[in-house]
Amino acid sequence: PIIYAVTPTYGRPTQIPELIRLSQTLMQVPQLHWIICEDSNTTSPQLQAFLHHLQLPYTFLLTPMPAKYRTNTKLVNKPKGVAARNAGIQWVRDFAKQGVLYFMDDDNTYDLRLFEEMRWTKRVSMWPVGLVTGLALSSPILRHGRFLGWYDGYLAGRKFAVDMAGFATNIEFLIKVGDVSMPYRAGGEEEGYLKSLHISYSDIEFKANDCTKIYVWHTRTSSPSKGSRMVMHSLYDTTNIRKLQ
Ligand code: UGA
Ligand code: MN
Repeated sequence: PIIYAVTPTYGRPTQIPELIRLSQTLMQVPQLHWIICEDSNTTSPQLQAFLHHLQLPYTFLLTPMPAKYRTNTKLVNKPKGVAARNAGIQWVRDFAKQGVLYFMDDDNTYDLRLFEEMRWTKRVSMWPVGLVTGLALSSPILRHGRFLGWYDGYLAGRKFAVDMAGFATNIEFLIKVGDVSMPYRAGGEEEGYLKSLHISYSDIEFKANDCTKIYVWHTRTSSPSKGSRMVMHSLYDTTNIRKLQ
């Protein structure tokens, strides 16, 4: 089965280095198609330059966050990457038809073993994610292979207390379910999506040796100083930076 990895991405100084690192991980993964979704109204030259040299099967989608969320100043936590993932769901439904769907943020760290764990997902598979929330780990708790509950710093009564990087979906299953989508609700994206699949705990395939191995980490890259932010659009090519000439 082919893995379809949907990655939301947006312009910032660390965007291209993150994507270089991620793409060079993905180059080691057989049978993977990368769906890169840009959160913008217009394509950015630095991302197009990156894609021009990308040696991976990929699809580029332009998926801006709807203006009503982007410009709502009362909304402290934005539904990041939701337009991207919903467009990815639509794309795999229309064009992939089968395989496995994985939501892959552009800044996380992925062990190659993760992809072979998720590749044979029949409905929904789950595994631990390191370095996420105050507990620095989000994981299903299993006892003798049986699901007991969630270990997660943000339980909040969620039916599925998992991180975005902690699950994959079989595409044929998703199509069979029908109306599957992710809500524009910050903090409720994962749970909302998984609820829309109408699964129960007994449907979940727990991977990574009964969730005892960590193969993905929610790493975060610190943003550089303000000065470098001003030249972010030139970061991929220094020829236009006068100061260097
Ligand atoms: C938090 C959660 O811990 C993740 O599990 C979840 O996937 C993510 O939010 C989310 O809301 O999607 P965090 O590290 O705070 O993770 O989020 P980011 O890495 O900043 O963003 C998640 C993804 O959305 C990244 O791929 C990022 O490039 C993209 N993004 C972020 C956008 O497309 N637009 C934005 O304005 C911000
Ligand atoms: Mn992140």
